[in-house]
Amino acid sequence: MPQLCVNIDHVATVRNARGGCEPDPLHAAVLCELAGAAGITFHLREDRRHIRDDDALALRRVVKGTLNMEMACTPEMLKIAVKVKPDQVTFVPEKRKELTTEGGLDVAGNLKALTAATKKLRRAGIAVSMFIDPEPKQIHASVKSGASHVEFHTGVWCENFDRERAKAEVELDRLRAACYLAYEEELIVNSGHGLNYRNTGPIAALPHMNELNIGHALVGRAIFAGLDTAVRDMVQLINVSAGNPLEED
Ligand code: PXP
Repeated sequence: MPQLCVNIDHVATVRNARGGCEPDPLHAAVLCELAGAAGITFHLREDRRHIRDDDALALRRVVKGTLNMEMACTPEMLKIAVKVKPDQVTFVPEKRKELTTEGGLDVAGNLKALTAATKKLRRAGIAVSMFIDPEPKQIHASVKSGASHVEFHTGVWCENFDRERAKAEVELDRLRAACYLAYEEELIVNSGHGLNYRNTGPIAALPHMNELNIGHALVGRAIFAGLDTAVRDMVQLINVSAGNPLEED
């Protein structure tokens, strides 16, 4: 049954818009967990545009479920990760000017650096996930890197869901095949990026899906419905879509 991990970056985006301390991402993390989220995700970017170093340390003290830190594979971030000790690091590609993460990580093309970084993190007791496009080449490279998890980029599915459903269906087939392959290779399978209340159901129903990382749509709905309702609605949607309505509460 897939679990929901809430990405709270955009709570920090709103806070930073005025330079004060509200809304506090820490409060958001607690509310999300009380509403049924299995974990909290944050992305510590090089430019610190939303989550900052002090947030990461505070989240580590407060979050009871899985704490997942998204980051680029750089010496600076590796040092911080070892200090913060999240349960899991997800390596993502990062470009300074992008609005959000664009495309999956090229694990195959950066295997040496990612393997060394993975070894360092796993030695510190941190699980490692690679955020990749659902491609066999990247899955095999993730295995070689020593990662225990992969997170499949669902952006192509989400972009086409409301525009070109046929293209979206092709991408869903690609994601399904990738889930089977990753599972065969003994990787734990997560997914995320662009998921919302309309397009998450079929992703939650994919085979061997362990965790969904969702941020923007949840925080967006929380503005109107409140964070508690936004999280509870998404947990219920995931449970029902994955075929377990008994876990609706
Ligand atoms: N997974 C990864 C690796 C991401 O980089 C992001 C965006 O920070 C998400 C999931 C969440 O995406 P969204 O905010 O579109 O739900």
